[in-house]
Amino acid sequence: MTNENQSFVAPDDIAEIVRRLGTAAKQLEGKRILLAGGCGFLGRYFLKAFARLNDEVLGQPVTVVAMDNLITAAGVPETFSDNPHLEFVEHNIIEPCNPGGRFDHIIHAAGIASPFYYRAHPLETLDVAIAGTRNLLDLAREGHSHFVYFSSSEIYGDPDPAHVPTPESYCGNVSCVGPRACYDEGKRVGETLCHIYHHVHGVPVNVIRPFNIYGPGMKERDFRVLPNFASRIQGGKPLQIYGTGKQTRTYCYITDAMVGFLKVLLLGAPGETYNIGNTHPEVSVQELAKAMETVLARAIASDQVEHPDSYPADEPQRRCPNIRKANLQLEYQPEVELEDGLGRFLNWTQQHYTGEL
Ligand SMILES: NC(=O)c1ccc[n+]([C@@H]2O[C@H](COP(=O)([O-])OP(=O)(O)OC[C@H]3O[C@@H](n4cnc5c(N)ncnc54)[C@H](O)[C@@H]3O)[C@@H](O)[C@H]2O)c1
Repeated sequence: MTNENQSFVAPDDIAEIVRRLGTAAKQLEGKRILLAGGCGFLGRYFLKAFARLNDEVLGQPVTVVAMDNLITAAGVPETFSDNPHLEFVEHNIIEPCNPGGRFDHIIHAAGIASPFYYRAHPLETLDVAIAGTRNLLDLAREGHSHFVYFSSSEIYGDPDPAHVPTPESYCGNVSCVGPRACYDEGKRVGETLCHIYHHVHGVPVNVIRPFNIYGPGMKERDFRVLPNFASRIQGGKPLQIYGTGKQTRTYCYITDAMVGFLKVLLLGAPGETYNIGNTHPEVSVQELAKAMETVLARAIASDQVEHPDSYPADEPQRRCPNIRKANLQLEYQPEVELEDGLGRFLNWTQQHYTGEL
């Protein structure tokens, strides 16, 4: 666990999320939610969004029990200390858990998401996705709760170019023994468990496959590409581009992602899986560095380097979602353009990063 409890400031973004949810949020009136991974990057946004909904939208507050074992979290968010409707329980979900009472929704956002950390903790990565998912599904089964599982776009592995943009129906091209397998295969089994509990035990489940979400609140030592770049910029050092830098991704700003996640929570059809991410622009890592230059209106030096030992080298060549299903069923549509999102992210990192990487 790291000790950096960076202040988590994105009030305008939280307001934007709440505004874009509109009246759908009213379904949360009086609901009780279990949030696993509540101290992570996405978990903290859920907490802030629920707290804001309680302040501004809901007559009956939503109450949340957040769980986390803090293995990669940047501390316990301050949000808990001043909010009577949010409770924190330190717990490793690979052990059976029952914080008491029934939950309307269980959100499973616990995981070891950054390649740097899952390379360091491969067994914990598998365990949280398999044993952790099963424990939470058991709780959902007992309490007749709706279950939302955070899988990943990584379950698609290195997709055949004919399947990019990648729809939910694509089965993936994944190694079961490569350096990313603990994460990719763990998420795949987690999805299988959700599917079984839905069909055999009638648990209403939704699976979310997020595609490269970024924004304020990502800890500096997250070691995914955008925090890495932002830390190097802050420290006045050249960016480090691993490998050829030709691998492509689309990046989804946190407000677009949270609106999508909450729409799945509130409106997702039982048993369905949704890609949540941005469809454009699909940019190489080199082009991402150029976009940062445009946003900052100055040149940024970069070096092409070998993948460090701490980072799995078998990166997927392309990652771009087909979001037609979420668009048709949930009216999900990202709105934040890449340069706008990068500007908001860099504005935040300039205030919170030290330039240590
Ligand atoms: N952020 C993204 O771009 C992205 C993309 C694809 C998938 N996801 C998935 O979404 C979920 C949330 O992502 P994030 O970016 O917030 O990750 P994160 O690493 O910031 O947060 C995950 C949290 O889960 C906690 N955790 C890990 N193992 C645990 C365990 N056994 N018991 C209890 N808590 C545990 C960690 O301490 C951490 O606070 C993860 O499952 C991740 O794999 C995220």
